[in-house]
Amino acid sequence: MNKIAVVPGSFDPITLGHLDVIRRSAELFDEVHVLVVHNPSKAAMLPIAERVNLIKKSLVETPGMPDNIIVASWSVGLLVDYCTEVGASVLVKGIRSQIDVAYETPMVLMNRSLAGVETIFMLPDPGHAHVSSTLVRQVAELGGDVSGYVPAPVSRFLEKARLA
Ligand code: PNS
Repeated sequence: MNKIAVVPGSFDPITLGHLDVIRRSAELFDEVHVLVVHNPSKAAMLPIAERVNLIKKSLVETPGMPDNIIVASWSVGLLVDYCTEVGASVLVKGIRSQIDVAYETPMVLMNRSLAGVETIFMLPDPGHAHVSSTLVRQVAELGGDVSGYVPAPVSRFLEKARLA
C-alpha cells in the first residue's frame, strides 16, 4: 500500500525551510502532497494560485528533489477532508522551536480526533531555524534581500514585484 503524507501550510511564500521539510518527507513516504491551505488568522500576501505556482517552480529548480511530490491547494472544508480524499494518513509539520510545538499541538490532537490522521513533527536543517514566511514577507516589504531564505523563483518573483 502506498504511504501518502501531506505537508500543509500557508506557504506565503515557500521558504528554504519548507523546501527542506518537503524533500525529507518525500524521501520517507511513497507520495507527498504539498498542500496550500488558506489560514484565516494570517493576512495573505500572495493569492493561493501564485503560491502553488511558486512551489512548483521551486521544486523543479531544486537539484535532487524527489519526483513523488504533488502540489495542490485546499480552500473548502477541513484539512483532514483532503487527507481522506487522497488516502493520506499522515501530516508532516516543520518545527523550528518550542513555540511551533505549542502552536501545532492542539491541531495535531484535533486532526487525530476528527479523522485518525497522525502528525509527524520534522526538524529542518538548523540553518533555517530563524526563517519564516512572515519574516520573509516583512523583510521583502521593507526592501531587504531575501534571496538567502527563499528558493530562487520566489526571490525573482519578489524582486520583480518590488520593481513593478
Ligand atoms: O503555514 P501555516 O499558516 O502555519 O499553516 C497552518 C495550516 C494551514 C496548516 C492550518 O491553519 C490548518 O491546518 N488549517 C486547516 C483548517 C482545519 O482543518 N482546521 C481544523 C482542524 S485543526
